[in-house]
Amino acid sequence: MKIDRYIKFWNGKQMPIIGLGTWQASDEEISVAVDAALEAGYRHIDTAYVYENEAAIGKALKKWFDSGRIKREELFIVTKLPMTGFQPEKVEKYLNKSLAALQLSYVDLYLIHFPCGLVDKEGNLFPVDEAGNLLIDPTTDHVALWKAMEAQVDAGKAHSIGLSNFNARQIERVVKAARIPPANLQVELHVYFQQRELVDFCKALDITVCAYAPIGSPGLSQFMDKIGGDKSSLPSLSPLSDPVVKEIAQKHKKTTAQILLQHIMLRGIAVIPKSANPERIKQNIEVFDFTLDEEDVKRLDSLDKGNKARLFSGDMLKGISKHPEYPYKDAY
Ligand SMILES: NC(=O)c1ccc[n+]([C@@H]2O[C@H](COP(=O)([O-])OP(=O)(O)OC[C@H]3O[C@@H](n4cnc5c(N)ncnc54)[C@H](OP(=O)(O)O)[C@@H]3O)[C@@H](O)[C@H]2O)c1
Repeated sequence: MKIDRYIKFWNGKQMPIIGLGTWQASDEEISVAVDAALEAGYRHIDTAYVYENEAAIGKALKKWFDSGRIKREELFIVTKLPMTGFQPEKVEKYLNKSLAALQLSYVDLYLIHFPCGLVDKEGNLFPVDEAGNLLIDPTTDHVALWKAMEAQVDAGKAHSIGLSNFNARQIERVVKAARIPPANLQVELHVYFQQRELVDFCKALDITVCAYAPIGSPGLSQFMDKIGGDKSSLPSLSPLSDPVVKEIAQKHKKTTAQILLQHIMLRGIAVIPKSANPERIKQNIEVFDFTLDEEDVKRLDSLDKGNKARLFSGDMLKGISKHPEYPYKDAY
């Protein structure tokens, strides 16, 4: 089985199948991480307005452009519209902010980060009431929002547009109304939560898929502690130390992370492992020099636990499940 280094969008654009995730990386960490990633051969970087690190990423990229070691067109940069930007007239404003921070004139892919809008209040990324519940904006209209996303392609500010965390029903509604169809869906996907139905659904619509938390987001629990979040519903799963994954890793003399990443990539799905550690960044892209055999794939496939292994549920964001567009009430 051969792994293609790119996944191809309906519009002919190509996304490197592996990219650097950047959530929870501080400014200092991200500049080291971007340097290490570009040195190691990454050409795809995933960020978001709400990660608050676009400016640091922009600074690191500028250094590389100025040195002449890399050209803008060799990179694939993804960012996302925050939930507070879900009024159609705000889309351009938020994309402009991201572009200014990244010091770029366009992004390769602009995603709607999550299907539920929040009240845009004083620049607060996750505004809450006195009880700590998110201030949801129930008027979210995906079709109107998508038209504003399409206008960003027309303006040349985004080469492709897509969705993140949308369910099949929500994706279908956008596709039916779209003049420019979504090119990519970014969702949680890992060995315990393989998202087979959703991936098949997207394939049938010619929408590519990118897996977040591809190695199981081991930093998530720490993040929940940091924000004082409720961890009671967080499944305690560790794909990196799964005995089957460990056995397969030993057999191929690779790390468990490399096994988990290749298992996803073999399905034609992009992966964006996050690391701020240069050694792990380098290791995570060393996934093209071995191949899982049929038996390995079968064993890894059988580790799927379905929806109960979802790590990023609405419980992380208090009150979000009350939003009419909350995506996780459907089976997929
Ligand atoms: N669209 C969305 O709603 C959404 C949601 C979540 C994430 N994302 C995107 O997807 C990216 C990946 O997801 P994620 O960051 O949640 O999870 P992940 O990539 O599965 O895991 C990242 C964690 O694993 C550690 N790690 C990385 N490589 C490792 C290795 N080889 N061995 C052991 N540990 C390793 C990292 O720590 P160190 O940094 O210390 O190495 C970090 O704590 C994010 O960074 C973000 O760009 C998108």
